[in-house]
Amino acid sequence: MSAPTHATAVEIASSILAADFRRLGEQVSDALAAGVRRLHVDVMDGHFVPNISMGPLVVEALRPLAEKAGAILEVHLMITEPDRYLNDFARAGARAMTVHVEACTHLHRTVQAIRALAAQPGVALNPATPLGALDEILPAIDVALLMSVNPGFGGQAFIPSTVDKVARLRAVLRERDLERIAIEVDGGVDPENMAALAAAGMTIAVAGTSVFGAGAPVGERIRLLRAACVAAPPRARPRPAIRGSRR
Ligand code: DX5
Ligand code: ZN
Repeated sequence: MSAPTHATAVEIASSILAADFRRLGEQVSDALAAGVRRLHVDVMDGHFVPNISMGPLVVEALRPLAEKAGAILEVHLMITEPDRYLNDFARAGARAMTVHVEACTHLHRTVQAIRALAAQPGVALNPATPLGALDEILPAIDVALLMSVNPGFGGQAFIPSTVDKVARLRAVLRERDLERIAIEVDGGVDPENMAALAAAGMTIAVAGTSVFGAGAPVGERIRLLRAACVAAPPRARPRPAIRGSRR
């Protein structure tokens, strides 16, 4: 039997930022019908990132659709002082909340507050933020989100060095016995880079334009992303270290 890889266990989180907002419900329903169980809601404040998007009202509006399908609404908080809004998002129905390490002065407190609201705590890193920024917070979180574009806009080009960053984070999680933590990649994910990311150890792929952008129907695009994952070559796994051995 071949060694298990993360290549077959990638979950797709549809980013509604790229959806047609005139028919948001319909587009989200299409994604849910195609088996998506994680809806990614990008929250931007015009301060932390140079764009303004949506808030708790949108989460609340999608909540019945998500709950009916057994899907999770995750909010990606690209905002300064996210602590001020955690309660509002929890009340609106967010079951996962990701904050940026660059936006939190007391990151551990923020993560604890998310956990206390019964939501999955996630921490995001901008492309130029080193992985080391996660070192102390890792044991407290459920999701590590690596930005593969500079946050603020959908439809940007994927930054290729993210693949190596994912592989290095996977190695850290393995080394520290923290493989329960999901590695989420956000920005420019498409069927072309999906295989490499999956092979490197990504477990959640955020996909906006490649799901809701112009072209084939939503269900067809999701099937393409999934097929790209399955086609991923197995990752080379280092032999497990034998504790106490001097070999
Ligand atoms: C960018 C957002 C992403 C974005 C991804 O700041 O965090 O979630 O919506 O969209 P695509 O897949 O179009 O890059
Ligand atoms: Zn996002």
